[in-house]
Amino acid sequence: MHVPTIIERKRDGKTLDEGEIRHLVSAFTDGSMPDYQMSAFAMAVYFQGMDAGETAALTRAMLESGTSFSWPAHAPRVVDKHSTGGVGDKVSLVLAPLLACDDLWVPMISGRGLGITGGTLDKLESIPGFRVGLSAEEAHAQLERIGVVMMGQTESICPADKKLYALRDVTATVPSRPLIVASILSKKLAESLDALVLDVKFGSGAFMKTREDAVLLGEAMREVGAAMGVETRVCYHPMDQPTGRAVGNALEVAEAIECLRGGGPADLRELVVALAEEVSEAGRGRFAAWLDDGTAFAKFREMVAAQGGDPACMDDVAAVHPAPVIREIRSSRSGEVRRVDAEAVGRAANALGAGRNRAEDAVNPAVGFDRIVKVGERVTAGDVIARVHAGTSDGADAGEKGFLSGFCCE
Ligand code: URA
Repeated sequence: MHVPTIIERKRDGKTLDEGEIRHLVSAFTDGSMPDYQMSAFAMAVYFQGMDAGETAALTRAMLESGTSFSWPAHAPRVVDKHSTGGVGDKVSLVLAPLLACDDLWVPMISGRGLGITGGTLDKLESIPGFRVGLSAEEAHAQLERIGVVMMGQTESICPADKKLYALRDVTATVPSRPLIVASILSKKLAESLDALVLDVKFGSGAFMKTREDAVLLGEAMREVGAAMGVETRVCYHPMDQPTGRAVGNALEVAEAIECLRGGGPADLRELVVALAEEVSEAGRGRFAAWLDDGTAFAKFREMVAAQGGDPACMDDVAAVHPAPVIREIRSSRSGEVRRVDAEAVGRAANALGAGRNRAEDAVNPAVGFDRIVKVGERVTAGDVIARVHAGTSDGADAGEKGFLSGFCCE
């Protein structure tokens, strides 16, 4: 097959067949197709799109560029969740161990944060010793023992996606629906799941700014997931204010642990339980009981210990990473909180060092915000509406300014 002809056909809006798509993906993965041709192809897809059949073929080709997990016959139902990312979204940290309480297997492959959205791996690494770089064998053995593993993509899982994502990042082709669908689903399908729940976010702090765009993405993922034999449920949740009351790596782990112990913010708990219900039949009452009676927290501790983390620090993860400056941010007015803009808080947290702008940047586990007020709460002038955790006093000034730029009460 002639690669320039395939690129030309997509450029001109033709529908590619499975063979053409497979050829491109395998030539790109083995290095025989240079990056400049794949960049041109990605741009053609960006402008011309792909239909459901092409998107499924691209997902399959990317999945088959590497290895997938294979589970033994005695394995229980294997489930997972994917979120399109948000600010303060620590749901995975609670949901994965909670689902394992129902004797499901949860082989959760997560990513790192980029831009204003945090990454589960970065959060987990604020637990001293926690290893996210497990081999497939280690992951399997851990599932047999405790039913849950939270890890990064291995070298052998979807190498085509790894290469293509890096290229999209520098060629302005990340925001292409078929490319996003294939990228997300190829990695999730490598987990050989029975069921997957997708939490598609929309709003200021999300990738998709409107519900309409979120639904287009969610429906495309649902169709491809189902075509690949996985029960795929899609939920849509607003991301106009941060989830919970904490944003930042160690601060979010601390809040997730509160939730795992039956406390924490109501919106976080509600989101976790709603997503759990999509892939498990245990029901709301049992999830609530596992959170309230310590079962979910015990499962999380087991996972932390199994992955080399220090379970002794679970009582106060934030204290392991004290920020040099912790400052209260106060409201200058009284009234009802109308806006705590997720994008503004995410940008401010990123500038403090909680996130990264380039894949190779390091994150600071200590910094971010906590005690964040929620939309609808009433405040009096002088009340604390958040605390900023910063590396320096100048950083705290900038963090406070950034937070206040997204805050409104009246
Ligand atoms: N997350 C991914 O893994 N891939 C995308 O293309 C976008 C978000």
